[in-house]
Amino acid sequence: METGVTCSARAPILPNISSQHPVAFFIPRPISPSSSSSSRNWSVKKTSFLGDSVWVRPKSSSQRVPRRKNTSLGAKCEIGDSLEEFLVKSTKDKGLTRLMVCLGEALRTIAFKVRTASCGGTACVNSFGDEQLAVDLLANKILFEALRYSHFCKYACSEEVPELQDMGGPIEGGFSVAFDPLDGSSIVDTNFTVGTIFGVWPGDKLTGVKGRDQVAAAMGIFGPRTTYVLALKDVPGTHEFLLLDDGKWQHVKDTTEIGEGKIFSPGNLRATSDNPQYAKLIDYYVKEKYTLRYTGGMVPDVNQIIVKEKGIFTNVASESAKAKLRLLFEVAPLGFLVEKAGGYSSDGKQSVLEKVIAGVDDRTQVAYGSMNEIIRFEETLYGSSRLNNMAP
Ligand code: AHG
Ligand code: MN
Ligand code: MN
Repeated sequence: METGVTCSARAPILPNISSQHPVAFFIPRPISPSSSSSSRNWSVKKTSFLGDSVWVRPKSSSQRVPRRKNTSLGAKCEIGDSLEEFLVKSTKDKGLTRLMVCLGEALRTIAFKVRTASCGGTACVNSFGDEQLAVDLLANKILFEALRYSHFCKYACSEEVPELQDMGGPIEGGFSVAFDPLDGSSIVDTNFTVGTIFGVWPGDKLTGVKGRDQVAAAMGIFGPRTTYVLALKDVPGTHEFLLLDDGKWQHVKDTTEIGEGKIFSPGNLRATSDNPQYAKLIDYYVKEKYTLRYTGGMVPDVNQIIVKEKGIFTNVASESAKAKLRLLFEVAPLGFLVEKAGGYSSDGKQSVLEKVIAGVDDRTQVAYGSMNEIIRFEETLYGSSRLNNMAP
């Protein structure tokens, strides 16, 4: 088994993926073959994966981040590892490894499509073969193709296609995946950071399960940098990978603790008009001089907590401003990422990971943050917090 592989091992673990798409990524054709010295090593390669042609170049050994042992995890993982190396060292589950690598390929493609989308009309569109597709629908299509290609996905569904789609993978040893292909699709045109969210459950169930049952969750973050932030059930921490110029994902950060700090991201503020408890909570943040950091994209707003290792994100509902965020596609996967990072989540009374996902369209209010922030959130909204006994 590969679990004995040391950090110096450089062999690809998924020959059929890595040999076909070792560093394959979408890149504009150079203006002329001699226009750039770096273009000399490029050759075009046609591939059916994700239905587009790609430029490939030979593997590069260049690394931006020097290798550093991650002693806090007590594992063999090192900052500077590739995604594949991280996964080989972290899990014996080859199916899960393959699934996460295939989703990484999809995120890389979506990043390019977002970056090159044309936003002149009513929607941001990008060409895909002969079609012109809104970029969120394109992301949706790319993710379904990647999941089918992985051969380890049984069912998948998305915010765009909520009915379960059979991806052809096995139930035993396979996974079912729920995703929001492009969270923040209304802020693509303003060039804010947007992202993809997905949750991975074992077997063939995406309803009647809890967020706590996920075996992995992740988000792709398409900002000035493209990152892939993931957590695996049996591996401590939440892990950030940076997309490098050569198309590889490189492990750049682990988060294992969320501390206290005065940053707030208040979503659905319109609910304060008829939810006095939420208004009181917002008043507290303002009076205590918290720093407002809110983009209106749940992915960057929640990622902020994981990267800064502090803060609070709230999206509270009221009678007139109902809950909008979906438990299956958005709230549960992000809850998994925050809790694996050492933070807490709440719907006001319990962790969002304890909520049974009864239907694909279930929606909920939510907060993510440090322990004391979640205690304050629950106490202000409902008068008490289940976390009080645990607080230091
Ligand atoms: P989506 O683009 O997938 O529909 O979701 C966007 C979500 C989330 O990212 C954000 O926190 C929330 O919508 C903001 O909602 P409002 O703009 O309605 O406040
Ligand atoms: Mn969304
Ligand atoms: Mn969406």
